[in-house]
Amino acid sequence: MRLVSGRTRLHKATALAAGAIMTAGLSLVGATPANAAVACDVSYQIANQWDSGFQANITIRNLGDAWTSWDLRFNFTGGQQLQQGWGGRWSQSGTEVQVQNESWNGSVPSGGTVTGLGFLGSWSGSNPVPTSFTVNGVTCGGEGPSTPPTTPPSTPPSTPPTSTPTGTPTTSLPPPPPPGTHVDNPYIGATVYRNPDYVARVEQAAQEIGGTLGAAAARVAQYPTAIWLDRIAAIEGSGGNRGLRDHLDLAASQASEDNPVVVQIVIYDLPNRDCAAAASNGELLISQDGERRYREEYIDPIVSILRDPAYRNLRIVTFVEPDSLPNLVTNLDTPACAEANSTGAYVEGIQYAVNQLTQQDNVYIYLDIAHSGWLGWDNNFNDAVSLYRRTIQGFDGGLQAIDGFVTNTANYTPLEEPFLTNPNLTVGGQQVRSANFYEWNPMFDELDFALAWRNAFASGGSHIGMIIDTSRNGWGGPDRPTSVSSSNDLNTYVNQSRIDRRPHRGGWCNQIGAGIGERPTAAPVSGIDAYVWVKPPGESDGVSQDGIIDPDDPNKRFDAMCDPNGQSHYNSAYPTNAMPDAPHAGRWFQAQFEMLVRNAYPAL
Ligand code: BGC
Repeated sequence: MRLVSGRTRLHKATALAAGAIMTAGLSLVGATPANAAVACDVSYQIANQWDSGFQANITIRNLGDAWTSWDLRFNFTGGQQLQQGWGGRWSQSGTEVQVQNESWNGSVPSGGTVTGLGFLGSWSGSNPVPTSFTVNGVTCGGEGPSTPPTTPPSTPPSTPPTSTPTGTPTTSLPPPPPPGTHVDNPYIGATVYRNPDYVARVEQAAQEIGGTLGAAAARVAQYPTAIWLDRIAAIEGSGGNRGLRDHLDLAASQASEDNPVVVQIVIYDLPNRDCAAAASNGELLISQDGERRYREEYIDPIVSILRDPAYRNLRIVTFVEPDSLPNLVTNLDTPACAEANSTGAYVEGIQYAVNQLTQQDNVYIYLDIAHSGWLGWDNNFNDAVSLYRRTIQGFDGGLQAIDGFVTNTANYTPLEEPFLTNPNLTVGGQQVRSANFYEWNPMFDELDFALAWRNAFASGGSHIGMIIDTSRNGWGGPDRPTSVSSSNDLNTYVNQSRIDRRPHRGGWCNQIGAGIGERPTAAPVSGIDAYVWVKPPGESDGVSQDGIIDPDDPNKRFDAMCDPNGQSHYNSAYPTNAMPDAPHAGRWFQAQFEMLVRNAYPAL
């Protein structure tokens, strides 16, 4: 059992070190200017290295006075080249690499840590670890090595070095956790499994697109997406797609004690599923014995597969029942939701699922909490927190049974609104949050929402981490604003400044103008376990016209929110903004994939 006391949870830093191949730890109080003591500790870890490339992760600790911004510099001494970085603004000039904070991680209290920094680089000959780091112009690690590693080896190592090269400082690494041990953040130090069915689909789609855009599209295949167990038949595999065992067997063949592999699974088959909409209605109904069938024909078979000892080196991450509890917060006037509420089918179904899944130490559980455009209003937020608290009380081990929460699953809400950072700012005498687009909702973006939610569960839950689906919230392309509006008219100001280009925030079906968002990243921001792609980009949200039956999944129906010519169900003053000619939810939608690639932000 994974109960409070019996549970093995590793501290984040331990897990990180355990996954690293080489590390350098440098720390010391730097020169101290008259009134602000800058002191820092930087750890640089090569997490992965292959023929000509490598990935390194960096952690900065502030050992001096608080920072409001930071600027990290170091030099590549082996001719390495920065390719792509995250967690900060990265650049390289000559041998010097500079990383400046992003807007959300600039302020670091004394004793605080900047995590989630990392980059991909190229190397040849040798790949020495940088020997000196500065933050805000002050050297961290006055006692670092005086000489960089000596002569580089004449031939590149064919396998990544397993020990720290001579001449670089070492940190003593704790032994790696035994396989299957539950770590705090499963994404750290792990490879994330890519679904070969999706990879093949993307490669074919990229070929169809061709040219430069096709080349960008092909890069989508490099990133992992989740496996949606969206019906009982998906457990065994259906419609030409692999089943759960097939995926786990493949992933297990790539995993080892030194290389844990994360497999991401969406648990999505509650009775009366998608109760306030029609596009993703499920196969089980409460009125037709759906609660029992959910337990016995869906959850139990999944759990019995996950228990197979062959999968012990896998970290199995589950995203539990998108949109279900949120529907009980706001949609009880819909009969199917009222029934899910009065019978307890959603709450008890989730409790059953979690109590089965949590029994295994290598399974990680994140409950879905919709997104900021749904639960962001104070009243919805507070009602939701109470409902989740009540639900969690029924978990064996309470909050300890889960690893956190996932937001924005299959939605389009941006990670942040870079030009609208203060909902209470007044423009033309009115608060920004009162603009038509925000309808008084103070949560403009997923980072604010996710961190506020985490905060609400902070007592008794320091292990709680958040996950954000960034598969389709990029909003790049020519319509993306590049600066804040100078208008004094509130609505003009908001409409010109926002990167979310939806006419209305309630739009959820195949949204025109969307792009692929941040690439999947472990620990991008403190409190966020990962950015992931839960929804595979290119799979439809729902069919755009009535009267079409999906023979494999006849329960999926037409929802008016997917009608390209309709008005929004949530506010009829706005169009649905749905793309035309869309197939059923989960089916490949080439035109959407192409648009998502074109509007990717960052560009692919
Ligand atoms: C659909 C699922 C599908 C998933 C991933 C959901 O909207 O209801 O059937 O597997 O999207 O595309």
